[in-house]
Amino acid sequence: MRRFFSVVVSAAVCVAAEQALARNSTDPVARGQYLVRAAGCVGCHTDTKGKGGAFAGGRAFKTPFGTFFSPNITPDEETGIGSWSAAEFDRAVRRGIRPDGAHLYPVFPYASYAAMKPDDVEAIRAYLFSLAPVRRVNKAHDLSFPFSWRFTLFGWKWLYFDDTPFAPDPARNDEWNRGAYLTRAMAHCGECHTPRTAMGGLDLAKDMAGTVDGPDGELVPNITPDPATGIGDWTVEDLAGLMKTGLKPDFDNVQGAMDEAITFGLKYLSDADLRAISVYILSLPPIKNKVERPK
Ligand code: HEC
Ligand code: HEC
Repeated sequence: MRRFFSVVVSAAVCVAAEQALARNSTDPVARGQYLVRAAGCVGCHTDTKGKGGAFAGGRAFKTPFGTFFSPNITPDEETGIGSWSAAEFDRAVRRGIRPDGAHLYPVFPYASYAAMKPDDVEAIRAYLFSLAPVRRVNKAHDLSFPFSWRFTLFGWKWLYFDDTPFAPDPARNDEWNRGAYLTRAMAHCGECHTPRTAMGGLDLAKDMAGTVDGPDGELVPNITPDPATGIGDWTVEDLAGLMKTGLKPDFDNVQGAMDEAITFGLKYLSDADLRAISVYILSLPPIKNKVERPK
């Protein structure tokens, strides 16, 4: 908590210095806090509307399959994950498997987190376990058949789950590779910006090309560098600036899930990391896909 307040009251310059420190820190707790922000864990695991505690779960996600409620991931022994071992935590985050062997639903974007470095998962765990436990009993999901059957997830995983760890591309520089890692394994931009198939897997032929079926039915824009239908006319600075401030180059504010991704996480990232993500996104193949509601 003290760290949180000290960040809030510091001048912008100190915040930038602290970010650079946190990113490279040898203290896993500080590094973990930074990565938790990059990966967007807090927004999903906090019931802000119901004034629930941070990471204590209970946030609702309406999907075509029913309503999911995020679980408590504070270190409370009984109602949270306080009794989980480091290996169990890693298996949940990178493999989507609970300690009791049950498969987790992919609303929890572990299909992206699968590419995280084990060290980074451990730092995230160290940070979460450094927080005060919050007692809050998990709420059961409200799903329609057959999605209410956890074991059907096995089929989904077989079709869509790829647990290949992130491998840097030797033909690209460090900035690009850092951006690729942050975009794919951490910030999971594609979980919202890539359309899904009828089974709920990502349609990678339209990687980052936007969808009308975003979270809560939101329209999610095409962020490939296609000049006509994507963000081809944005500069690296425009994109990095959006992630810091929520403002688009035309000074319009982003709303909804994107505003949340920025407010809870992306804006805390170092300028170098926001730049790396932007360089990577703007290097993707442009895909022509106009995202608009059918009239
Ligand atoms: C898009 C929303 C979302 C994001 C982002 C997200 N989670 Fe989750 N998480 C969920 C939901 C929903 C579940 C419940 C899945 C289920 O019951 O099968 C879950 C489940 C979990 C579980 C299993 C807990 C249990 O008791 O079964 C853990 C651990 C977890 N998340 C940790 C994290 C961490 C760490 C991060 C960030 C690196 C994160 N989550 C990011 C939504 C999210
Ligand atoms: C939780 C879902 C979600 C995630 C994760 C997410 N976005 Fe978004 N993004 C949205 C939505 C929804 C909008 C539309 C916001 C609006 O209508 O104002 C959006 C808008 C944008 C825009 C504005 C594009 C335009 O033409 O107006 C950019 C750029 C963008 N996102 C980039 C990213 C990047 C880069 C990442 C990863 C670092 C990311 N987003 C992660 C949901 C998401």
